[in-house]
Order: sequence, then C-alpha cells, then structure tokens
Amino acid sequence: MANNSSLAFADRAVAEAPTSYGKMLDWVKEVAELTEPDSVYWVDGSQEEYDRLAGELVQAGTFVKLAEDKVPNSYAAFSDPADVARVEDRTFICSEKEEDAGFTNNWKDPAEMKGILKDAFAGSMHGRTMYVIPFVMGHLDADDPKFGVEITDSAYVVNSMRIMARIGTDVLQKMEETEAFFVPALHSVGAPLEEGDTDVAWPCNETKWIVHFPEERSIWSYGSGYGGNALLGKKCYALRIASVMARDEGWLAEHMLILKLTNPEGKSYTISGAFPSACGKTNLALIDPTIEGWKAETLGDDITWIRPGRDGEFRVVNPESGYFGVAPGTGWSTNPNAMKAIAKGNSIFTNVALTDDGGVWWEGMTDEVPAHLTDWRGNDWTPESETPAAHPNSRFCTPIDQTEMLADEYHEPNGVKLDAILFGGRRKTTIPLVTESFDWEDGIFKGATLSSETTAAAVGAVGVVRRDPMAMLPFIGYDAGDYLEHWVKVSGEVDQSKLPRIYLVNWFRRNRDGGFAWPGFGENSRVLKWVVERLEGTAEATETPIGRVPTPEALDLTGLDLSDADLEDALTVDAEEWKAEVASIEEWFARFGSSLPASIAGQLDGLKQRVNA
Ligand code: GDP
Ligand code: PGA
Ligand code: MN
Repeated sequence: MANNSSLAFADRAVAEAPTSYGKMLDWVKEVAELTEPDSVYWVDGSQEEYDRLAGELVQAGTFVKLAEDKVPNSYAAFSDPADVARVEDRTFICSEKEEDAGFTNNWKDPAEMKGILKDAFAGSMHGRTMYVIPFVMGHLDADDPKFGVEITDSAYVVNSMRIMARIGTDVLQKMEETEAFFVPALHSVGAPLEEGDTDVAWPCNETKWIVHFPEERSIWSYGSGYGGNALLGKKCYALRIASVMARDEGWLAEHMLILKLTNPEGKSYTISGAFPSACGKTNLALIDPTIEGWKAETLGDDITWIRPGRDGEFRVVNPESGYFGVAPGTGWSTNPNAMKAIAKGNSIFTNVALTDDGGVWWEGMTDEVPAHLTDWRGNDWTPESETPAAHPNSRFCTPIDQTEMLADEYHEPNGVKLDAILFGGRRKTTIPLVTESFDWEDGIFKGATLSSETTAAAVGAVGVVRRDPMAMLPFIGYDAGDYLEHWVKVSGEVDQSKLPRIYLVNWFRRNRDGGFAWPGFGENSRVLKWVVERLEGTAEATETPIGRVPTPEALDLTGLDLSDADLEDALTVDAEEWKAEVASIEEWFARFGSSLPASIAGQLDGLKQRVNA
C-alpha cells in the first residue's frame, strides 16, 4: 500500500511532468502510487538520453560496451538464463467473457486478474526509476496514429523501445494536442530493491505475467525483461491489442514482413509474408536476390498492419522502426543485408557471444568459427564446447533506417498497396516449396491451417508440429474463429479485383537424404519471381489437389546447383502425406467448435474430396 510520503511523491512526479495531458497524468500518478519507485523519469527519446542510459546500464553491469571498431555505439546484454524468450503459458487475454478469448489463449476473469496484478505490482519498483515512454506504433503523421505509453522500471527496455518504435517528446506533444487515446502499457521486471539490497545485471522475477485487457486496451507485463515480453509496443500492442482494434475498426494486424520486389522491366510489387517466430521473416524481408535484374527492398520484418485504402486496395504499413531479429543463422553468406545494417552499430545485442577483441559472434554469423569466445552465459567457449556460444533465441536490436535496401515506401504514413501474401512455416514434409491458392477463400484456408515445427523463440519443446493460423497463434487477441471470420469479412471492404493473391511457402522441406531440399535464403528470390510472374499471368503452374504448384521448368533455376531429385522433393504433392494432413486439419478445426466460419470449414471439405479423388 502506498504510504503518505509516496503519495506526496506521486503528486510531485506529476507536477514536474513535461505534459499537462490529464488522462496521462492520472495514469502515471496511479502507477507511481502502486509501484512506489524512487523517481519518475519522462523519456524524451533523444540521442543524449539514450547514451546516458546506456552508460548507466554499463555501470550496472547490464550492458557490455562493444569495441567501437567492431560495432560502433553498441552494447551486449546477457539475460537471466531463465528469461530468454516469450512465455506463452504466462500470456493472458483477459476479455470480459471467456469465449471472447477463444481456445488459443489463456484466460482469467479480468477483475480477478487485476487483483493478482495489483498485488504483484504493489511496491514492485522500490529502489528503481520509473520511466514513462510515450510512443506511437506506425507513423506520427498517419491518418489514424496508434499511441501508447509504456511505463517500465528497466532502462534496457527504454533503450530497446527507442530502436523499435517512435518514442519521445514529439509523440507526447501530439498526444496532448489531439487528446489522443493511448494504450496504457505497464511493465515491471518485478525485482524491487529494498534498503541494503544489491542489484543484479538482469533483474527479473521467477513469476511472470504478460496480460492483455482487450476491452480496456491495456497491457500489464510483470517479471520478464525479454523483448517479446517487455517491449510492449511490439507483440503485445501491435499484434494482440491491435488485432482487437482491427476487428472493431475493419482492418488487420498481422505477424508479417513486407518486401518490395522490382522486376527487370522496372515494375514493382509489394509482398507480405506471415511466418511463425524464427521461421524466416527477417531473412526474407532482407533478401539479396540471386537472380539477374531483380531488386528487393524492405519495408518491415515482423509486423504489418493492413488497411483498406481509398481506391479499393489493401495497404500495408510497418508499425515498427527497428529489427528485433534472431541472431543465430544471420550471417554474411545467408543475410548480408542484415549484417550490413548491424555493422553500422547503434544496436543492442542480447544473449549473443563475445569475441576476445570486443565484438559479437553467434552461430552462423561467419563460416569461420572463432577459436575462443565468451558464451552468452559468461563462460569460456571453444569450438569443442558442447553448448552453443549464443543462445538459440539471441537477438540483435537494430534501427531499420540503417538498412541500405530500405524502400522509400517505408516512410509513407499510410502505407503502400499490397499485391501478394505468403504464408509459410517450417515443415520437413508435406508442404511444397510454393503453392498458389485457388482463390482468396482458399488462401484464408491456407492461412488458417498454417503449421510449423516449434522453435526456440518461445519457451517449450522445439521441433513439434503445431497449427499456427496466419502465424498468429500466440498473438490473436480474441477468439481464433472470430479472427478467421474477420479475415473473410474485411476482404468484402475492398475491390475484389484488387485482392492480393495468397501463396503457401515452405523453405524447410527435407529431401530424401534428410537435408534441406531447397537452398533457401537468397535463392528464395526464384520463388518470388514465380509469384510475380503468376500475378502477371506469365508463369506456368501444375494444378494439384492443394493448389497450383510451379512446373519444374517454371522456376528460374539459372546458375543454381540443384539436383533433379531435390527439385522433385521440394515441389511434390504426395497423396499419402496429404491424407494425413487432412486428418490433422480435421482435428485442428474441431478445436474451434462453433466459431469456425462455415466458409472455411467448407474449404476443408473441398480439399478432402480433391485429395481422395
Ligand atoms: P523470424 O523470427 O521469422 O524473423 O525468422 P528469421 O528470419 O530470423 O530466421 C530464423 C531462422 O531461420 C534463422 O536461423 C535463419 O537462418 C533460418 N532461415 C531463414 N530463412 C531460411 C531459409 O530460407 N532456409 C533455411 N534453411 N533456413 C532459413
Ligand atoms: P519473433 O519476435 O520471435 O517473431 O522474431 C520476437 C519476440 O516475440 O520475442
Ligand atoms: Mn524476425
């Protein structure tokens, strides 16, 4: 409970605030009274502030400053070994009614959950600074800017948020001027410091709560400092809360990259792609095409907001301003564009390994493995070590405007017309390299039944096949059946001739020898070329029971060393595999109960008939 002196303190914090926006001041005061920090600090978003906080994080042992000649103005952080990924089993959608959270979410009664959270947050910022971060997801000049305020007791979160979102004074001013609605997003690492306590480098709590109140549009996150749990503009706001806003306002908040592709004739197409975490979004967003004359530029690597535009088209915008990318596997040979952006510095690395000369390293960064490293847990590491040097979910956090291949359209406040959508996952079998949907509804069906083997991006077993609708399984902020229905409905708001075409892709299928059938990475440009040529009506396809798959000749394989057997393994549609897939989809759809849209259920009947014919 707040005592008298802390009440006076909260009043003072508000009196000294750089805003007179009452609604915000009320909330900040309420949080200060609950969490009882030592001080309240309003984040202005300046470089000077970023550098100062980084210096304090070095002092505290949270940050290691990297050598200027390795990665300029950059830092490495090492988390508590138990705080390395999103915690889906601790993530809740607390809608008023349980049925509105649906079977894909954890739910608790909102009043009960508020009680639990208030107990957890009471005094949780003792001995710490409470930072107030005004932020906007998307552009400040958008027709409908989406504001938030994150309160956190972690300076690591403040500096990471400065990379990932537009934050600071100009955002605060616009909120005040327009008396804007904002999402209150409260975060605490849950590690109060009492008199005489010494802090640790990565404070967190064994108990974690990542909680969303969709009707109230608020977020409460407790106990974790890790990206997806703590940078609340990202998954919590721009996906879970935004998906609810999008349902109510007639648009879509999706877990997608955005890529602009220009063909040798100079015609450009915008393609978005939904892949589950650690399944290749950042890599595809930053692709270096291996085919002559094709140019790729990026607009975003993780989150896409899709809105009906004025001319009956869908428009896409990336609400973020940085990358929070999986480090392992990001290398000079697989993803040079990401490496070039990272090399410019101004980045925060979490749970990577350190080289002896003050740089960073992770598995797959270079072909040559350093002879000695300090691993992410601070231990000596050599190539003989039995554990990886970098955590499999280690991350780089880098400003997107350091990307050489950034598309001009990234700066368009209201986005750009969308031409095609890819759905993809990690499947060793069954799913061909690329399949074109028969039509929009079949495309939604392909998204609804998307599946992938689980990865290290979330706590839990790795490599288990799970259904992940539109790669949104952990991020749909409401009932999953209603979400699919919303996809069906929202397409009615645009010109049917302008609907994007939908493709299912799988870079991860295995060949008969157990290796990857398709080389992936930059070579995926060959698949993108086929997609664009399909849009233009020039590429050949084979009609199969599951959709249209390229004929072996339709893929441009110039200069690629790929055996006929591998190509066949990548493209084949196997009847037995698909009978098993249909059975697995039936089990999946059964879980939706009555909330599965009839049109999507009907798609399964059609598939079943075609597969059994
Ligand atoms: P994101 O979390 O969806 O953004 O995924 P990333 O792009 O960071 O990739 C996650 C992991 O998948 C990394 O280890 C990549 O090296 C790997 N990956 C990405 N694209 C491909 C590909 O085309 N083929 C293969 N085999 N691996 C890939
Ligand atoms: P990702 O997102 O795993 O999709 O890259 C980051 C996170 O949620 O931690
Ligand atoms: Mn990514």
